[in-house]
Amino acid sequence: MTGTLYGIGVGPGDPELMTVKAVRILQSAPVIAYPAADDGDSSARMIAAQFIPGEAIEMAIRVPMRPGRMPVEVYDQAARDIAVHLAEDRDVAVLCEGDPFFYGSFMYLHDRLAGTWPCRVVPGVSSLTACAAATAHPLVRRNDTLIVLPATLPDADLASRLEANNAAAILKVGRHLPRLRTIIEACGLTARTHYVEYASRDNEMVVRLEDRDDSPAPYFSMLLISEGDN
Ligand SMILES: C[S@@+](CC[C@H](N)C(=O)[O-])C[C@H]1O[C@@H](n2cnc3c(N)ncnc32)[C@H](O)[C@@H]1O
Repeated sequence: MTGTLYGIGVGPGDPELMTVKAVRILQSAPVIAYPAADDGDSSARMIAAQFIPGEAIEMAIRVPMRPGRMPVEVYDQAARDIAVHLAEDRDVAVLCEGDPFFYGSFMYLHDRLAGTWPCRVVPGVSSLTACAAATAHPLVRRNDTLIVLPATLPDADLASRLEANNAAAILKVGRHLPRLRTIIEACGLTARTHYVEYASRDNEMVVRLEDRDDSPAPYFSMLLISEGDN
């Protein structure tokens, strides 16, 4: 017998947006792992905190929060540590902010472990749908197409993709906000763009892009572009 690896989507921030299934698995998992900043807290753990049993073995996966190279050695080591528990028949639940397979860091552990150990992925409410709900504007309807874009793409790629779709979500806004504003303006989309930060959290903020200044955006922020109301 071996343990099962669970990738648990904990949603965008409001613990009430965790699924019943995620909570059930967390409450019985003997080992709970989560990504954590190398010098701070874990956003995923904070979301799920009230559902983590006191007796659970906790494993913080310290991931350097710097742009650039993916920290391969961190995930290699975390996979080895998790495998020790799985081999001893202990289930391991890995918390992932939002949904595990929507730009979620759980996928790096899945890549390393799912071929060897039983693995289940529990989907979560993603930031995409949480941000759309926060804007109170439908994102796509009927035959609309939606594109999801990391802000880190080159200007020309962002512009051509924005022009080819009815709706767009731009993630990882951060320091790219002034650049994104210029591209969106050139595409004539400013009036259709919302800026959302910390969707579903106590400090959630939603404004139209034209009402947002150019100060750097936090990590948990997104631009949403949709067709106007019908
Ligand atoms: C690495 S991706 C992780 C996405 C996550 N797995 C999900 O399903 O939402 C991180 C990006 O998601 C977006 N994001 C995540 N949570 C958010 C929130 N509560 N409000 C606004 N944007 C959020 C931001 O654009 C952030 O830079």
